[in-house]
Amino acid sequence: MNPFFPVNLPAPTAVYLALLILTWAMHYVLVSTVVAGSAYLALNEIFRRGDRALADPIARICRDWMPAALGVAITAGVAPLLVAQVIYQIESYTAHLLLWRRAALVLPALIAAFYLFYLQKSERFKSLNRAARVGVAVVAFLCVAGVGRFWAQVHVLTLSSAESLSLNLDAASFLDRTALVRFAVFGAATVLPWSAIVRAKLGPQLLSNTETAANHRCLFWIMCLGWAGVALIFAGASAWLRNEPQLFQALTSRASGPCLAASAAGMLIFPLTLRRGRTRKSERLCCSIQVVAVILLAVGLAGLRESVRAEFVLRPELLSRHAELAQKGGWAVFAVFAAVNAACILAAIQIARSQRERQE
Ligand code: HEM
Repeated sequence: MNPFFPVNLPAPTAVYLALLILTWAMHYVLVSTVVAGSAYLALNEIFRRGDRALADPIARICRDWMPAALGVAITAGVAPLLVAQVIYQIESYTAHLLLWRRAALVLPALIAAFYLFYLQKSERFKSLNRAARVGVAVVAFLCVAGVGRFWAQVHVLTLSSAESLSLNLDAASFLDRTALVRFAVFGAATVLPWSAIVRAKLGPQLLSNTETAANHRCLFWIMCLGWAGVALIFAGASAWLRNEPQLFQALTSRASGPCLAASAAGMLIFPLTLRRGRTRKSERLCCSIQVVAVILLAVGLAGLRESVRAEFVLRPELLSRHAELAQKGGWAVFAVFAAVNAACILAAIQIARSQRERQE
């Protein structure tokens, strides 16, 4: 038998788990742009005054992206939501979520975040006084952070018992320490994907004048901080896990090896390209390498996260249920729609790109 996670499991379960890992990694990279981006906007308004806050190029990019990034991050959450249900058989279909008070709050929080992000993008925002601008940016961040905190709670509950999710979601304390720590950990890990994406966007501009060179310095320190944050998380987790033998074994088993290797490779490659390239071409190369490092890290983390959950809650009856579901067909329809969706996304990106080029 192949020893690697998730291919060490029966084929139907392995396919569903692989889908969950890939789609969640995608959701996570996109969510990172929203969480870390809105945190940057809030800090920018708090610590910079007047025109300096408005003129900051990193903040300008974030303001410009935020509504679209939030939309894409939310949409990318649907795929792992559906696949997680198939794997763990939890009752968390999107409409079902509305039955729980805590989950129902996610909707108004996301709607408020959308409007506040659009407001930050508008001309009107520039005419607001400082306190109002700080308020708008901070509340927008709190709305998305609250949603992230909610998903951390969901994950913690599925670890204890997937079946009791609906019973426990409303009963769980908002100050539940495990979920708070979990969200703090995942929140800290959002800095790397966000900063790599911002750098790729600012990339060639960074070489053009002294103002953007200062921004690169700022981004450089943010990246160092983000990297150190993730390194600390790994170090802290490995120290803490020594008291949790079952978890430690799940994470360090041979099966989890490729996931650990992918995250370690991402962590090792990322700092190699921190420095600004001397030419446009080398700067572009650094940005691309960093994006690859982020993808490796995200997929590795997603695999580790899932290998822990599989260790706790993947019971034999679930494996036979997956085999049963895989017999029901639908794979061809799934493949066709996945291809159609991918083509639509690529076409939309292409249209947006060519319109922007025309405007410029
Ligand atoms: C801005 C909004 C959002 C943020 C900041 C966010 C953030 C997060 C974070 C931090 C996690 C990891 C939780 C953990 O492992 O502890 C997560 C997981 C997840 N998110 Fe999101 N999320 C957002 C919106 C959504 C939406 C709208 C959906 C559904 C349509 C969604 C679906 C999921 C799913 C299915 C998981 C995996 C849960 C699990 O493994 O138990 N997310 N999200």
